[in-house]
Amino acid sequence: MTPAAETTAGTGTGVNGPAAKARNGLRSELQRPLVLGIETSCDETGIGIVRGTTLLANTIASSMDEHARYGGVVPEVAARAHLEALRPTLDAALAEAGVTLGELDAIAVTSGPGLAGALMVGVGAAKALAISLGIPLYAVNHLVGHVGADLLHRPDEPEHELELPTVALLVSGGHTSLLLVRDLVNDVELLGETIDDAAGEAFDKVARLLGLPYPGGPQIDRAAASGDPAAIRFPRGLTAPKDLERHRDDFSFSGLKTAVARWVEAARDRAADDRAADDRAADDRAADDGAVDGSSAAFSIPDVAASFRESVADVLTAKAIAACQRLGVPRLLLGGGVVANARVRQLAQERADAAGVTLRIPPLSLCTDNGAMIAALGARLISEGHKPSGLDFGADSTLPVTTIQV
Ligand code: KG4
Ligand code: ZN
Repeated sequence: MTPAAETTAGTGTGVNGPAAKARNGLRSELQRPLVLGIETSCDETGIGIVRGTTLLANTIASSMDEHARYGGVVPEVAARAHLEALRPTLDAALAEAGVTLGELDAIAVTSGPGLAGALMVGVGAAKALAISLGIPLYAVNHLVGHVGADLLHRPDEPEHELELPTVALLVSGGHTSLLLVRDLVNDVELLGETIDDAAGEAFDKVARLLGLPYPGGPQIDRAAASGDPAAIRFPRGLTAPKDLERHRDDFSFSGLKTAVARWVEAARDRAADDRAADDRAADDRAADDGAVDGSSAAFSIPDVAASFRESVADVLTAKAIAACQRLGVPRLLLGGGVVANARVRQLAQERADAAGVTLRIPPLSLCTDNGAMIAALGARLISEGHKPSGLDFGADSTLPVTTIQV
């Protein structure tokens, strides 16, 4: 279907009231509702517009730059940024989709999990819009939204079904979760998650201790490209036999981060000692503090980056593929910002191929936090006949993944 046809299909006055809906054919509207999705669970203000599974707009404003000097997302800063970004992002999404607020059939919003103050901004905006437009509101789970991203296709792309059941590995700065999705809107099970840092958070923290700027994931990925992944054997969290008994599908990255920190510290100490010895031998040379802190003189950043990245990619992909095999599910779906990682993608593909598992990776713009995935999940809830959420729900920072809709 062409973009023009998509847009025309949703225009025409008076499509909103129940009577008008009946006139225009309720069934087809339910199958392809025009849904606005609002996502504010972390530092991205995401507004998406879909018609059924067709992606019409995916507009994002990120407050990442405002968090850079803190080395991680600051909840209050994120919440305020959402407040400022929401209206312009909404306007941009409507313009991109070529629709007006009056044409929308429903609103979907992330109600959790995420940062409480950030979530509240999106939830408040969604309620206000739904009330003023007189249309239904669907409060949905952010993590399930990441899976819903795979429903979407651009207007010029053919439709494809989200094949189920699937195992889903969601890895970002805020989450590291392994899910078994039997039915997107009725049956999602949490197999495991991180017991400490999220995978992206580990990238950010290790980058910081290597002196690389925030966000650290892309920086480490870049540095790792010229490094030797076998240079240092960093630990693989929760993969020892005794850990697997209790945490078969869980992840842990804080031990890895500490191991990298210790290794870097030891390398810097060694470099400082060598330098001191050199200085003693040649006392006409002045001591240079830079050698202690100047990481490049002490060790190879690319080697540390590549070895660290290898550990993360190894554990993530090994556990995800092992879950597919154990459960007899021949599909793995990836989501979250860490999916951008070159080694994670490569190793996931290699291991999926070897295990006869089909790997699905949505476009990166739909893997990172966005409103389109939330709209897609809302549209699927509608087309499967689920009732709206009403208005008495709130933001729930720890919403369990089993609660697909609040
Ligand atoms: O999904 P996302 O955009 O948003 C939040 O979690 O809010 O994920 C961002 C995370 C950051 O921790 C970032 O460092 C990480 O994803 N990331 C990467 C890469 N690109 C982004 N991690 C590893 N390798 C990358 N290439
Ligand atoms: Zn996310």
